[in-house]
Amino acid sequence: MLKFINREAELWQLSNILNAPPNFVLFVYGPKSSGKSTLMMKLATQVKSDVILYDFRAKSPTELHEILTVPRPGFSERVRQYFRKKLRRSNVEDGIVLHPNKIKMMAEGKLDPFAPLVNKLKGLKRPVLILDEIQNLKYSGIDTKDLAQLLNFLVTLTKRLHIAHTIIVTSDCLFIDEIVKKAGLEEASEFMYVGDLPKTNILEWLQEEGMNEVKAKKVFSVVGGRPFDLWITIQHFRSTGGIGVLDSLVKRKMSRVKYLLKSVGAKEFRFIKKLSRDAVSVDEIHPKLLKWAIDNEIAFFDPVNGEIYAISHSMKTALGLL
Ligand SMILES: Nc1ncnc2c1ncn2[C@@H]1O[C@H](COP(=O)(O)OP(=O)(O)OP(=O)(O)O)[C@@H](O)[C@H]1O
Ligand SMILES: [Mg+2]
Repeated sequence: MLKFINREAELWQLSNILNAPPNFVLFVYGPKSSGKSTLMMKLATQVKSDVILYDFRAKSPTELHEILTVPRPGFSERVRQYFRKKLRRSNVEDGIVLHPNKIKMMAEGKLDPFAPLVNKLKGLKRPVLILDEIQNLKYSGIDTKDLAQLLNFLVTLTKRLHIAHTIIVTSDCLFIDEIVKKAGLEEASEFMYVGDLPKTNILEWLQEEGMNEVKAKKVFSVVGGRPFDLWITIQHFRSTGGIGVLDSLVKRKMSRVKYLLKSVGAKEFRFIKKLSRDAVSVDEIHPKLLKWAIDNEIAFFDPVNGEIYAISHSMKTALGLL
């Protein structure tokens, strides 16, 4: 069983947002594997709302009308779903269920792809739409115009009609920056950063797993509070009783960056050395250099405070050793 390290502050902030009438599109952002999806699942099970959670890593819509809808299944499947839902006491759906004919009409352009959704949402209990991994829509075939239309619809649901909360989750902050500008969302959105877990919780967790304090502190000094790195370290500790995996984790990152550096120049090297020491302001960096570091999963860009960081604490450690 995986332990969930409490995210009290984030859950408190989110439940405050959900308790007020919907008034903006919320962007939940943070580096890869920082625990955003896990936090959304936790939120979904805690709130007294109907939650519709879209995971665009699992679902790859190619047309606008497919993004938020799922065709209503046949009778026996509906019965099965009803009992499954009762058993799991689940309030989480993976799309707004519509009759297949309606979806077909949307596809043929005979029906506004959003109008029936508004009606559907009005019938739900304090609905919350969570769109996880939204950057994948870019790759699944949704074009920029459709994406802007979708975002405008989300603004309609929140700021204009106050019908549903909407949460957009992503680690691709250049994408956030792009869509916020393109869809004119500056005045209609809020941002929440989900980063690493706090030190005291981590040290407690590691010691509960059986590590002594010295080992626990060593783990924190190398990987910080990144849930995924901690999870890997714990799995190895469980099977070997040691934390040797930290060396290989850092070495692997070093060799990857060394290899990347072979095909670039001195400015890339200077930039990553800067990142190994501290955050870098976005005004100091050429956009191409920033894109190179983001695409290669070396850096994370926070569009809210305009700062660039090493993508993880273990990456920062690795860059420092180059
Ligand atoms: N609060 C937590 N306590 C314990 N483990 C956690 C916690 N949050 C996340 N994890 C673990 O960390 C890993 C990464 O979490 P998750 O997939 O939620 O990150 P993410 O930010 O959604 O990543 P991505 O940007 O790649 O989508 C998972 O294995 C998950 O089980
Ligand atoms: Mg995720």
